[in-house]
Amino acid sequence: MANDEPEKLLTHYVGGAWVAPLEPRHHTIVNPTDGTPAGTLVLGGPKDVDRAVAAAVAAWPAFAGWSRSERLDLLRGIRDETARRLGDLAAAISADIGAPMTMARTMQADAGVGHMDGFIAALERQPERETIPGDDVLVREPVGPAALITPWNWPVNQIVLKVGAALAAGCTAVLKPSEFAPRTSVLYMDILAAAGVPPGVVNMIQGDGETGAALSRHPQIAMISFTGSTRAGRDIMCAAAEGIRRVALELGGKSPNLVFADCGDALEARVRSSVAECFLNTGQSCDAPTRMLVERAIYEQVVEIAADAARNTRLGNPAEEGDHLGPIVNERQFRRVRDLIETGIEEGARLVAGGPEMPKGFNHGFWVRPTVFADVTPSMTLWREEVFGPVLAITPFETEADAIALGNDTVYGLAAYVQTGDPARAERVALALRAGAVHVNGQSMEYGTPFGGYRQSGIGREGGIWGIEEFQEIKTIHAP
Ligand code: NAI
Repeated sequence: MANDEPEKLLTHYVGGAWVAPLEPRHHTIVNPTDGTPAGTLVLGGPKDVDRAVAAAVAAWPAFAGWSRSERLDLLRGIRDETARRLGDLAAAISADIGAPMTMARTMQADAGVGHMDGFIAALERQPERETIPGDDVLVREPVGPAALITPWNWPVNQIVLKVGAALAAGCTAVLKPSEFAPRTSVLYMDILAAAGVPPGVVNMIQGDGETGAALSRHPQIAMISFTGSTRAGRDIMCAAAEGIRRVALELGGKSPNLVFADCGDALEARVRSSVAECFLNTGQSCDAPTRMLVERAIYEQVVEIAADAARNTRLGNPAEEGDHLGPIVNERQFRRVRDLIETGIEEGARLVAGGPEMPKGFNHGFWVRPTVFADVTPSMTLWREEVFGPVLAITPFETEADAIALGNDTVYGLAAYVQTGDPARAERVALALRAGAVHVNGQSMEYGTPFGGYRQSGIGREGGIWGIEEFQEIKTIHAP
């Protein structure tokens, strides 16, 4: 961690410099591991937002004129600098959100390199000019200065998906990262500066929802790319509607995981890895497989395997290497997760592992027991609401059609998961599920592939060429 970090947390990054706030409000940073104060963060006000937007607007004409090869060199430089600072990034993520070091490095920080590689490969392949019917010419241009608003749960992943795509397209930007992952964003600005991103091309305002709302209302912002809650996504769409400005939204999920009896010998391994995936990042992932739907013939067997997997999931110090889980990010989320576990019990779901009490040996901080409920029905809160904690809901189904209908019974549509030994069924079910990504038998996503959801999970796709296109306008030149 850099020595000047505490001072930088009291500033914003505007026009290539760390600048004192114009309207300071303060936020106490809390260590999620033990609940103790761990520093102070400044939260930006409307004047700070105006100054940052002015810097992005001023830098835009020159940056929009950069050639594709200049932008590619910039992206390659950021990629290399990110790879060099991977250990520091992992330490910042771990301190910010309590992510255990091994996953903070190999998954969270690593996404900063992987997604940038995805953008580099996509931009290399995207034609600069295309001839279209009528011998007309199609060109792509940057949409303009963009607002990038990110959450805390995968902080580098989400910042890079937006900053990388904006730079690839030739947009300047104002980033408003989450107030619950501030060290990570400070370090990422240092990485961008070291990689030679020109002053004003990427600016950063620290702040909360108020700061984000001021940024998303700003008339000189051409587009808003947001990841976070459906509630904030709705506010941002309303703010953007005033000036008919473009939005890209990556919101919540309640992703189904359909487990069929034809898994055969692979069943136990498939269920254990499904539980691990649900609990990854302490359950704080928008695409987590949180609703496990299980064919009746294997239902009780699967409930027992899942409960055993949860009981054997270790919690531990985020500063240590290992495959344990860390705490929940903050007190508000911690209370929400425990309340939802209590609601599950009150509404009659069968608690088979975990529960609302503090885990043994963890009396301070925001720790939650890995929890599994069986017999969750569509009328229950746990069926509908994103918990954002290590809580799995299990439900039986009778037929394949029944499984698909239950899987699609959600307002979301970010991801879906299928466990089956029958490739024809995998294909049939994947096509029938209404979600932006379907993972068959534990297949994970590659960097550079599209990520985003149907319905209330959002609008648009991030990653690779699809992510870059969100930040581009298409112009057709009709010339004789
Ligand atoms: P949030 O949506 O409030 O925060 C995400 C980002 O948006 C932060 O940078 C925040 O400062 C900003 N923000 C908040 N309200 C805003 C507004 N009205 N206008 C503009 N920006 C705004 O998410 P929060 O409170 O941290 O988590 C609440 C729930 O949201 C979680 O329990 C989870 O269900 C969901 N969530 C989903 C995420 C995803 O990856 N899709 C990430 C984080 C949370």
